[in-house]
Amino acid sequence: MKFQGLTLGVPTEIMHGERRVAAIPDTVKKMIAEGAKVLVEEGAGVGSFFSDDEYKAAGAEIVAEAEEVYAQSDIILKVKEPLLNEATGKHEIELMKDGQVLITFIHPASPVNHQMVKQMAAKGVIGLTLDGIPRISRAQAMDALTSMSTIAGYKSVLMAANRLAKFMPMVGTAVGMIKPANVLVVGTGVAGLQAVATAKRLGAVVKAADIRPAAREQSQSLGAKIAELGIPEELAVGEGGYAKRLPDEWLIKEQGALKEVVADSDIIILTALIPGKLAPVVITEEMVKSMRPGSAIVDVAIDQGGNCAITVPGEIVNKFGVNIDGTKNIPGKMPTSSTWMFSHNIFNYLANLCKDGKVDLNMNDEIIASSLVCRDGEIVHAGALEAMNMK
Ligand code: NAI
Repeated sequence: MKFQGLTLGVPTEIMHGERRVAAIPDTVKKMIAEGAKVLVEEGAGVGSFFSDDEYKAAGAEIVAEAEEVYAQSDIILKVKEPLLNEATGKHEIELMKDGQVLITFIHPASPVNHQMVKQMAAKGVIGLTLDGIPRISRAQAMDALTSMSTIAGYKSVLMAANRLAKFMPMVGTAVGMIKPANVLVVGTGVAGLQAVATAKRLGAVVKAADIRPAAREQSQSLGAKIAELGIPEELAVGEGGYAKRLPDEWLIKEQGALKEVVADSDIIILTALIPGKLAPVVITEEMVKSMRPGSAIVDVAIDQGGNCAITVPGEIVNKFGVNIDGTKNIPGKMPTSSTWMFSHNIFNYLANLCKDGKVDLNMNDEIIASSLVCRDGEIVHAGALEAMNMK
């Protein structure tokens, strides 16, 4: 049995507004069937509508304090990176111990997490980050980043539509025809494609912009019209087919190419990202000014810095009559679906990691090697080392 003799701990998430949880009663059952003991902090599932009784019925042990969960577990399963618990004054890293395994989104290259990652390594924690999972077919069922992007893309359109002072679809009325809303989606990876599909379902006229030809083709097949950017493929597409950071002069050209379509958009959904880098600024303040009052922007890329120059991280602001939404952590707003996907992703990751009751850090396994952040007191994650100038 994969988890024979291992204790798996599921603490309550402490980030403000975070409603997800890393395991649900269904995945707890699967863990126990493979020999694990599962400790769930009291109330951990409440934000996702799972009661302690449901976890108990699945075989988990409910533990009153987070400290106990951390103290007794071999492996900690979480959604968000370790944070300072303002209620107790203790950082989650302080609760961890030498040799303990942590599986969660760590985002180790992000500057706000550098100190935490260093502390985690110093403690001797084995940190495994879900955002490091490679985009290969064997890893698809573990790919929590893709799952969460699916949610963010869908929800962002609903958030914008809800704020729009007009219909999304074309509506015939007794006093005349109301035109459909114009939606622009910038960046059509997983989140952007889901945004295109959602806006189409709501009846909007959808335009899509992406620097990668493959992404443009995919959004076209979902019914979007393409906003041409005129960026040469060799500048846009790098290793493995991923987007590259554009040289500044080409980013300015992209802004110019989008000028007219931006001015004519009622909703703009921004999801343009470069793996491991800050998000490109595609929408300038001038471009926002050109939009009609009452329009809405949702900057889904805000966790990586945002695609609009004047988005305020974590806030919804109105500038020049345009509603600009910088909500962080959009997947946390749809906890039923996001927790369901996340908990299955993390179970599948765990099942790949453990063999015969042991954590097998097999560095020949691309999935494990590229998600390992630290072990034996050392940071090993290439992106984090580069970002910390330690490489
Ligand atoms: P992402 O979240 O890193 O980036 C989003 C999009 O932004 C990308 O399509 C990128 O080309 C675009 N972008 C970057 N800079 C831009 C700019 N200046 N202007 C406009 N657009 C810009 O991308 P995500 O969602 O991670 O997907 C990347 C690729 O990986 C996709 O082709 C996707 O289909 C593929 N993928 C494969 C998986 C698998 O095989 N298991 C799983 C998930 C994604």
